[in-house]
Amino acid sequence: MNCFALVPAAGSGARMGAATPKQYLDLLGKPLIWHTLHALSAVPEIARICVVISAGDEWWDSYDWSAFDRLQVLRCGGTSRAESVLNGLQAAEVDDADWALVHDAARPCLDPHMVSAMIAELQDDAVGGILAVPVADTLKRAGVCDRIACTESRDGLWQAQTPQMFRRGALIDAIAAYIGPDITDEASALEKQGHSPQLVMGSPWNIKVTYPQDLKLAALILHGAVVNG
Ligand code: C5P
Repeated sequence: MNCFALVPAAGSGARMGAATPKQYLDLLGKPLIWHTLHALSAVPEIARICVVISAGDEWWDSYDWSAFDRLQVLRCGGTSRAESVLNGLQAAEVDDADWALVHDAARPCLDPHMVSAMIAELQDDAVGGILAVPVADTLKRAGVCDRIACTESRDGLWQAQTPQMFRRGALIDAIAAYIGPDITDEASALEKQGHSPQLVMGSPWNIKVTYPQDLKLAALILHGAVVNG
């Protein structure tokens, strides 16, 4: 196997304010993560999709996942995203040289063609890279009582998305060495080691569902994708 997807899905989704973790919230009649897995399943280069859920997950088994033939469920989620990713990478039965494409369960609007293009761009890269989009808005730094302290330059700033694509062995080493609050994505662990992962143009549609209104936006994006083919 050369490329596999690792989907961290062990979060509680506290910012959604719902009792059900966000990966299982209803999105167009299916749990949110179903759409994420559907998109990854449509990427022919991905040989296996490993989903990391928490050991105490009460929701996963109540759904029928038989439509996804390349799925492997790993019940080893951790207390942070980085820990879930690290545990999942270690548990996945793949080679260290295989490319891991780590993708948030909470990004259900992923375009499979964009993932294929990313794999084509990075498969011979020495480090790997991530989907990201250039920052479009003007950035303000907050001062006291949310008064604006200054305007920050957005020159050269990108917003990180997922998938993030790195060799499995290298990613395990990097996360294990630097795991902590600073490691909010895979690339940041590689950066701490002195590497410069490649920025690959992502899409504004590849949103991460974090707040309740994001769920409505995701439904609109997915519905548009269905209507427009
Ligand atoms: O909370 P946030 O939106 O940053 O989570 C991003 C992804 O990481 C989600 O798919 C979530 O389920 C996952 N996660 C995890 N284990 C944690 C926390 C988050 O797998 N402990």
